[in-house]
Amino acid sequence: MKKFLDVISEEMKSAFQRAGYDGELGKVTPSNRPDLCEYQCNGAMAGAKRYKKAPIMIAQEVSMELEGSQVFESVSAVNPGFLNLKLSPVFLADYLREMAEKPKFGLEAPEKAKKILIDYGGPNVAKPLHVGHLRSAIIGESIKRIARFAGHEVIGDIHLGDWGLQMGLIITELQEREPGLVYFDDSFTGDYPEEAPFTIAELEEIYPAASAKSKEDNAYKEKAMDATYKLQNGVRGYRALWNHIIRVSVADLKKNYERLNVEFDLWKGESDVHDLIPQMVEEMKAGGYAYLSEGALVVDVKEETDTKEVPPCMILKSDGASLYNTTDLATIKERMEKIGPDEIIYVVDKRQELYFEQVFRCARKTGLVKPETKLKYLGFGTMNGKDGKPFKTREGGVMRLESLLSEIDEVMYGKIIQNRSVPEEEAKETARVVALSAVKYGDLSNQASKDYIFDIDRFTSSEGDTGPYILYTLVRIKSILSKYAEAGGAAEAPALRPAEGSPEKSLMLELAGFLGMMENAYEETAPHKVCAYIYDIANAFNHFYHETKILAEEDAAKKEGWIALLMLTKNVLETCIDLLGFSAPERM
Ligand code: ARG
Repeated sequence: MKKFLDVISEEMKSAFQRAGYDGELGKVTPSNRPDLCEYQCNGAMAGAKRYKKAPIMIAQEVSMELEGSQVFESVSAVNPGFLNLKLSPVFLADYLREMAEKPKFGLEAPEKAKKILIDYGGPNVAKPLHVGHLRSAIIGESIKRIARFAGHEVIGDIHLGDWGLQMGLIITELQEREPGLVYFDDSFTGDYPEEAPFTIAELEEIYPAASAKSKEDNAYKEKAMDATYKLQNGVRGYRALWNHIIRVSVADLKKNYERLNVEFDLWKGESDVHDLIPQMVEEMKAGGYAYLSEGALVVDVKEETDTKEVPPCMILKSDGASLYNTTDLATIKERMEKIGPDEIIYVVDKRQELYFEQVFRCARKTGLVKPETKLKYLGFGTMNGKDGKPFKTREGGVMRLESLLSEIDEVMYGKIIQNRSVPEEEAKETARVVALSAVKYGDLSNQASKDYIFDIDRFTSSEGDTGPYILYTLVRIKSILSKYAEAGGAAEAPALRPAEGSPEKSLMLELAGFLGMMENAYEETAPHKVCAYIYDIANAFNHFYHETKILAEEDAAKKEGWIALLMLTKNVLETCIDLLGFSAPERM
């Protein structure tokens, strides 16, 4: 189905042509003056010079061509040459009816579906998830859902940080605490225990302790580096311990991501590409790309057009150890060979922008990807506290994701039981669902690259541009629809009737923008476009709702038309919040 704006632009273009002007002038845009018109066209002004004619004359001629138009109810040429447009309610209703009948509201499959891999989440094993990981998960999940809805094949990969120094640190600290563990006995040849020698809580305490020690104690750090080296080179006991760390940690991560309604197709990690590194390095050397510089193996990636310094991409350290770069490059190699995506999107903190620039250039230069493979870095801004500084706990520490979510759940629960008596279980469940909308919408409604302020009071408010506001609106619609059904209203979608009054027409105009919004949200990887769209819809609906006694309406045809409009509004909102990664409760 065509985008609404395209359909009405076509009508305008052919009017320009009939009046003897270039059809391209007939581009229609949303109105700058909603008090005067719904849409507008500035083509007469654009064409004035070319046709050596006053713009108002052109506008008048074009408007004459549109008398009796099925698309526009009114077209007025106003000084200095604007065409102010109002749409025919019948035409608008027909467009919406088609939208309501078609799958995905008329969104057609792309000519050629792409295979897109999204690298997001990026947690580090054995380190608790903190708020820094929240944005990648929320944004990546939404982008994945939007691209899938647009008809592409999308694979989400968590890309665990499971291979670096942090693993060596944990192993070293474990050895300090329990040197007698069988994993440290070089002469042991039997099977290692099935059960991990630690719990997730212990693990999460061990890592920060080890990290702190390594910063003060050089010998300790050397030990950790040595342990990392041994692990990477296959020392049995270390591998067995590492397996325990991964298993315990991944089980906990799964729980956390589930709570966020975030789902990965692949749980691959840096460690998975370890064995690919030697071959990749050889190829980079053989191709003449990689060379030794002060003992380290590097690939130059600067370009003549650079305005800033882009340092070489380091492939191996002077001791032969691999780096963050190395695993990312080897991961690209593996993804290209095993999956063959047309596009890889990285959803990572914007502070890693230069790093990804280096990695992408290196991957292109060394032929890890095809020239047509798109590598896209979606860098997101920082989530700040009300003081404008990166979000911290009250004590000033790094906020754990779990604590943050529990805090919001509680605030939401408080709000839910404040006004009504709801059974405790239901209130708790509802609080969780609504709290998730507060967190996700609070994040996604901002352009991803921008920093934003995490404000629990604002995010959990049921008024304003918030998740709970959208959910309240949706629940309100559901409640009207179920009352209608209880009173014996048609179960099938009734016919959508042309709107007469104004508030419902505004709602219809907002809804009609769905396809245009989807195209932008997908092409610009911009979930905030979905948020802006549903916020406008929610406002338009609530305005309509306050002005209209829907269920008490006596004119049956009118009432049915409204019900159909509500059904469409509900379905559109439900689809959109699913694209954002949250859902609505039955009641609130
Ligand atoms: N683990 C990394 C971090 O916490 C993020 C990983 C991002 N993805 C990637 N392919 N490098 O900073």
